[in-house]
Amino acid sequence: MNDTTTTDIRAEILKPLRERRSDRHFTQRPLEPHVVASLVEAFRWGPSSNNRQPWRLILVRGAEASAKFVDALSDSNKKWAHVAPLKIVLLGHPEEQPDRDGQNRWLLDCGLALENMLVQGYSMGLTIHAMAGWNEQKVLANFSVPAPFRVAALVGAGYRGRIEDLPEEVAEKDRKPRTRKAPGEIAFTDTFGNAYGG
Ligand SMILES: Cc1cc2nc3c(=O)[nH]c(=O)nc-3n(C[C@H](O)[C@H](O)[C@H](O)COP(=O)(O)O)c2cc1C
Repeated sequence: MNDTTTTDIRAEILKPLRERRSDRHFTQRPLEPHVVASLVEAFRWGPSSNNRQPWRLILVRGAEASAKFVDALSDSNKKWAHVAPLKIVLLGHPEEQPDRDGQNRWLLDCGLALENMLVQGYSMGLTIHAMAGWNEQKVLANFSVPAPFRVAALVGAGYRGRIEDLPEEVAEKDRKPRTRKAPGEIAFTDTFGNAYGG
């Protein structure tokens, strides 16, 4: 592989990585089966420690299951996530990927696979949005999830809607420019605190 090819490959993945965004506006148009399959495919190829894949997904598409999903959301997420035609519960299994040094390593694996799915969804023209605002006991009970599974995240996905159709307080959030810390704030060279300067 020559240098040009390497640069091209990097550019191909960096663009969606940079542009992916957590919007809150969806249309109710159902997602086609092949689109849902692509989300699952991107997710399941996520990396995990020792390839343990300590994750499960519940794809919520029916009206009754959808109501159970919304019931478990925080009040602020209830204002927009109910519209998403595909709702996803991401579960992790703490015994399939045991804790180390008091750290929940199953959660790290779930997060990596989740990002795969978010980037794939964005690249297919979806609004796809991860949520941490929910009541775990409600999610577990509403979806009859057996122990010892834990909830890692909830996700809403659908084709992009219109910001104007959102309640104004929610629309404001989607209009905000996306920001990130500068590379020198989060990356160091050789020792902690020695800002990476490119
Ligand atoms: C694990 C996780 C949980 C999140 N929880 C919520 C949430 O409950 N409600 C919400 O509106 N956004 C939530 N977000 C979206 C973040 O606010 C968003 O990713 C962040 O502001 C960066 O914006 P961007 O994704 O558009 O780059 C969550 C994101 C992640 C990764």
